Amino acid sequence: MNHLLKMLDLTPAQINDILNLADQLKYEQKHGISHRLLEGKTLGMIFQKSSTRTRVSFEVGMYQLGGQALFLSSNDLQIGRGEPVEDTARVLSRYLDGIMIRTYEQREVEDLAKYGSIPVINGLTDFAHPCQVLADLMTIREVKGRLDGLKLCFIGDGNNMMNSLIVGALKCGMKVAVACPEGYEPDRSVIEFAAQVGGFEMYRDPRGAARAADVVITDVWASMGQEEEAAQRRAIFAGFQINDEVMKYAKSDAMVLHCLPAHRGEEITVAMLEAHANEIFEEAENRLHAQKAVLVKLLAEKK
Ligand code: CP
Ligand code: NVA
Repeated sequence: MNHLLKMLDLTPAQINDILNLADQLKYEQKHGISHRLLEGKTLGMIFQKSSTRTRVSFEVGMYQLGGQALFLSSNDLQIGRGEPVEDTARVLSRYLDGIMIRTYEQREVEDLAKYGSIPVINGLTDFAHPCQVLADLMTIREVKGRLDGLKLCFIGDGNNMMNSLIVGALKCGMKVAVACPEGYEPDRSVIEFAAQVGGFEMYRDPRGAARAADVVITDVWASMGQEEEAAQRRAIFAGFQINDEVMKYAKSDAMVLHCLPAHRGEEITVAMLEAHANEIFEEAENRLHAQKAVLVKLLAEKK
């Protein structure tokens, strides 16, 4: 594993290795066992979009591993003024040991990896959010004890989260059902992958997708960069909410996850978010542990 660009690139064995290491690092951190595996290493973090969890968990994660992280806002970097990604990649590769980038186009992340000579981690693009999905899989495994054979349901927009969850969950042997309005389906590459692997269903009615689900997940109706479409999307997605009615169709002990930030009263009711707050905030915590595992795999271990 040289980079973490999207879930499509990972093998099931690599995902399993990351999750196992994440569990171990979480245990060590909880028990005060130090693991300074990245002593002297520096991660650069380029942000072209806002972030709470990703920024803080990467920064704290690097610190706990004995390294350091640099926050690089694209407003301040020359990349924000048009310096090509090819040059940025080659320059930053000479100072840093790894780069995390949050941006719009997946292409930019892929180019950074192509032209640079250090590991690149996708901290969210319009297409993918692999760091979040690794934390989600870790959380489901923690609560349910396994992933293989479970059913994951995603209700909402065919966005970075839906794309990445479909691929990650199928690679872990889960069944996946999604519900989205017409015109808001997941990316074509994801649908093609799912069709090859099997175990994937797409619905227009959230109740169909939620049937017998072990975990039900949603995300905002308007992602970062889609703020101008928010009002229109609120009308289109009105029926695509995690609420009591939809959860009647899931298993009685079904988990609910949300990558956060959440828009209460839109994609999830206040009551449903609060009823599952333990799972949702554990999921947020697991960003730290899962990303530390990714950092160790990419920056410390020999390829
Ligand atoms: N879930 C997530 O990526 O949160 P941030 O946007 O706060 O990083
Ligand atoms: N789909 C959301 C996820 C935020 C973590 C967005 O891209 O804004």
